Amino acid sequence: MATSLPSCALYLLLLLSLQHPSQASDTLTANQKLSGNQKLISQDGNFALGFFQPAALVGGSNDKWYIGIWYNKIPTQTIVWVANRGKPVYDPVLSNLIISDDGNLALLANHSKSPMWSTNIRNHIATSSTMAVLNNSGNLVVKHDSNNSTVLWQSFDDFTDTWLPGNKLSRNKKTGVIKRLVSWKDRGDPALGLFSIQLDSNGSPQYILQWNNSIVYWESGNWSGNAYTGVPESSPSNSYPNSGYTFQFVDNDVETYFTYTVKNDAQTFTRGIVDVSGLFQTLVWTNVTQAWTPFFTQPKAKCIVYGVCGENSKCSENAASSCSCLKGFTEKYPENWKLGDHTAGCRRNVPLKCGNNGSMKTKQDRFYVINSVKLPDDARSIDAADVRACELTCLNNCSCIAYSYDGSCWVWYNHLMNLQDNIGGSMYSISIRLGASELPNSGTKKWRTTAIIISGLIVLSFGVTILYFSHKRRRPISGINHGDGSLISFKYRDLQFITRNFSERLGAGSFGSVFKGVLPNATIVAVKKLEGFHQGDKQFRAEVSTIGNIHHMNLIRLLGFCSKGPMRLLVYEYMPSGSLDKHLFGSSSTTLSWKIRYQIAAGIAKGLAYLHEECRDCIIHCDIKPENILLDDSFVPKVADFGLAKLLGRNFSRVLTSMRGTVGYLAPEWISGEAITTKADVFSYGMMPFEIISGKRNLEHTETSMGTFFPVLVAKKLLEGQVQTLFGSEIFNAVGVELERACKVACWCVQDSESSRPTMGEVVKILEGLLDVEMPPVPRYLEVLAEGSKNVKFFSDEPAK
Ligand SMILES: *[C@@H]1O[C@H](CO)[C@@H](O)[C@H](O)[C@H]1NC(C)=O
Ligand SMILES: *[C@@H]1O[C@H](CO)[C@@H](O)[C@H](O)[C@H]1NC(C)=O
Ligand SMILES: *[C@@H]1O[C@H](CO)[C@@H](O)[C@H](O)[C@H]1NC(C)=O
Ligand SMILES: *[C@@H]1O[C@H](CO)[C@@H](O)[C@H](O)[C@H]1NC(C)=O
Ligand SMILES: *[C@@H]1O[C@H](CO)[C@@H](O)[C@H](O)[C@H]1NC(C)=O
Ligand SMILES: *[C@@H]1O[C@H](CO)[C@@H](O)[C@H](O)[C@H]1NC(C)=O
Ligand SMILES: *[C@@H]1O[C@H](CO)[C@@H](O)[C@H](O)[C@H]1NC(C)=O
Ligand SMILES: *[C@@H]1O[C@H](CO)[C@@H](O)[C@H](O)[C@H]1NC(C)=O
Ligand SMILES: *[C@@H]1O[C@H](CO)[C@@H](O)[C@H](O)[C@H]1NC(C)=O
Repeated sequence: MATSLPSCALYLLLLLSLQHPSQASDTLTANQKLSGNQKLISQDGNFALGFFQPAALVGGSNDKWYIGIWYNKIPTQTIVWVANRGKPVYDPVLSNLIISDDGNLALLANHSKSPMWSTNIRNHIATSSTMAVLNNSGNLVVKHDSNNSTVLWQSFDDFTDTWLPGNKLSRNKKTGVIKRLVSWKDRGDPALGLFSIQLDSNGSPQYILQWNNSIVYWESGNWSGNAYTGVPESSPSNSYPNSGYTFQFVDNDVETYFTYTVKNDAQTFTRGIVDVSGLFQTLVWTNVTQAWTPFFTQPKAKCIVYGVCGENSKCSENAASSCSCLKGFTEKYPENWKLGDHTAGCRRNVPLKCGNNGSMKTKQDRFYVINSVKLPDDARSIDAADVRACELTCLNNCSCIAYSYDGSCWVWYNHLMNLQDNIGGSMYSISIRLGASELPNSGTKKWRTTAIIISGLIVLSFGVTILYFSHKRRRPISGINHGDGSLISFKYRDLQFITRNFSERLGAGSFGSVFKGVLPNATIVAVKKLEGFHQGDKQFRAEVSTIGNIHHMNLIRLLGFCSKGPMRLLVYEYMPSGSLDKHLFGSSSTTLSWKIRYQIAAGIAKGLAYLHEECRDCIIHCDIKPENILLDDSFVPKVADFGLAKLLGRNFSRVLTSMRGTVGYLAPEWISGEAITTKADVFSYGMMPFEIISGKRNLEHTETSMGTFFPVLVAKKLLEGQVQTLFGSEIFNAVGVELERACKVACWCVQDSESSRPTMGEVVKILEGLLDVEMPPVPRYLEVLAEGSKNVKFFSDEPAK
């Protein structure tokens, strides 16, 4: 046993005599050290362990290093475990990972004696025989070579933010120890963040997501034997039987845990994480796109995540960027904000005046109102007779930063968290306190009158100017030229002009926002600003001209484009009736007649058949869903956003699957990493007739839980010859043939195996009654999705035919 005095020298001696592990070993033994760019590599080559720097290191000096485990075969740095989370070392060459002489795996910086990090175990057996092995599961295991059955320590017991296949996220009933995943602090810092997932500490068999280890913002619901009750579309294993997942929920006298494994020879890489924006996601590496595809995300509504936008900001569920600072505030850490981590929130631009105590000499702080909101947390109720009294009470307390009056007076002190805006139907509004200079037209009444007159004059003269110009410019906007066939190449400032500086937003799609514009010839257009785009100008023009050459009555027409610096914009024909989802599920959902519904289903099929089979280059759409079907004024459907998959390349799958609503339409091959063909579109298309028929989202049917997932119900009723029971007999007598045909074709489209699914051309023929079909089998993947199943191996089955 080493005494403390000479141990420093001993360490140095020891270090000098240590050898580096031989190339590509998976084992670190007691006389070896790991430093610099040396790595341990698991036997099958899938995982590596060594020093790394976070790829997205924010804030300049990129000098923090960590010991971690990552995927060795994936080009995108993907860290699954970090040893020294909050304790970086600054020079990997001077730092060593060793088996220390107390038998621990330890990280030493600068040859110092006390480790930056250690496994902290009491090791009773001879330390010379202790070793650390990185095994094929991505688990770093410390054991003795003499007794390799005993695990002394393993990284699987020491979660960071990642849950790998084979690992148990458990609660030990004897010791009370609860394992949890804790998010990184931000994308460049693996230190402990604010979000975590774990089994409920009160003993319920459910997982909970928490903020700062205290506030629960999501619960999975209790395990009910085959699924979590709060997750009707169920767990990853349920949803994607073809990808070879197995899963298991265990609740015995000793412990409770959930675990999953993946059939390994598929070379499928999959992981669960709690990310820096508080979402729990499972992702799979997709070879075709060379990107991680999320296929399970909770909570579904990102604004539910506690503090996701930080302080003094608002969260909007349906916007391209969910978080934005309130007026008068600016991002606290713009770099993190850009990387999608908004948790630091926003800071005030101009300090509050406060304390002027009603004196008329200085300008008072003022309030501005945001309507249709979900109010922030931590409201305090105070007595106030009316809205004016409520405002005054707030104004008179320096800590009060907002109020809301709805008969009673609510105020907020010091911080605003979890304000959500754009809530359709919300009656609440909130008044936010700002320094007077932040709000224009402030001041006395006299001032205001002057301001109104002046602004009136400005508007008037502006109007005259525009009139003058619009008369003068009865020619196309300068700079428009008809390059690339019929496509117009717009200048950016022309698009600014026709959209009135992007003032009227029509919507936020998967790939950016869309704005309304009016061409000089009075044609209304939709201008799409692409986001997340990295293609060069030349390639962009080539792709765009391909899209521009596609003309079909059921495909949205591309009229022009703009490519300026990093900006890419597309100009499309404008569809006054908006997208199909609004008509099917929106609050203003129209009652479409059956005839129109059938026309829509058939029209979409024709548009896709043209894309797949009749264009010069076959185009796979990759993102078929009601949001991407637009309707003209006689409800003729037009498929939008085709060709963007190719245009956006690698970014596409990220954008695609991070959008709420897309997941319900994705074919299983997106998840299993198989090649994507036109049959993936057929699958997505197939999910829509069910929704067109029922007027409800498949995932949102109230009876979704267990067994009656609408597409599965339809398939089963078809086989029983009872499909009419799903519809009123009145309807069925009138349009039964078409209804049954639509149900049948949809069921064929959503079959697991690509070869079972028809082509879009065949779908058109079936819908037109030109081609007959047999009864479809119940689609297995959807069935499992609906029913859930405990510990079943899915991979063995041949697809039903
Ligand atoms: C390592 O040594 C360098 C230079 O002596 C020093 O700047 C740095 O702070 C040391 N790092 C640690 C972690 O002790
Ligand atoms: C990795 O280690 C864990 C724990 O010892 C073990 O359960 C698992 O089977 C190992 N995996 C492989 C692929 O060796
Ligand atoms: C190996 O470890 C197990 C469990 O700790 C113990 O029961 C066994 O006696 C050990 N065997 C040897 C050879 O040390
Ligand atoms: C321990 O390792 C040796 C050699 O690597 C192997 O032969 C033996 O089967 C292992 N024992 C156990 C219990 O895994
Ligand atoms: C979940 O399970 C716990 C313990 O088994 C029980 O106390 C609780 O009532 C259950 N919750 C629901 C919503 O059923
Ligand atoms: C998280 O909770 C701790 C106390 O448990 C508190 O000190 C800390 O300020 C909290 N963090 C934030 C960001 O509110
Ligand atoms: C993905 O690509 C890697 C490397 O090219 C290959 O080893 C692996 O088998 C591929 N996986 C699938 C599911 O195609
Ligand atoms: C206004 O009132 C507050 C508290 O009532 C006090 O702290 C502050 O000093 C006063 N300010 C002025 C300018 O009188
Ligand atoms: C302002 O409100 C806070 C929180 O209720 C309270 O602690 C404080 O005393 C109030 N200040 C004044 C001047 O009323």
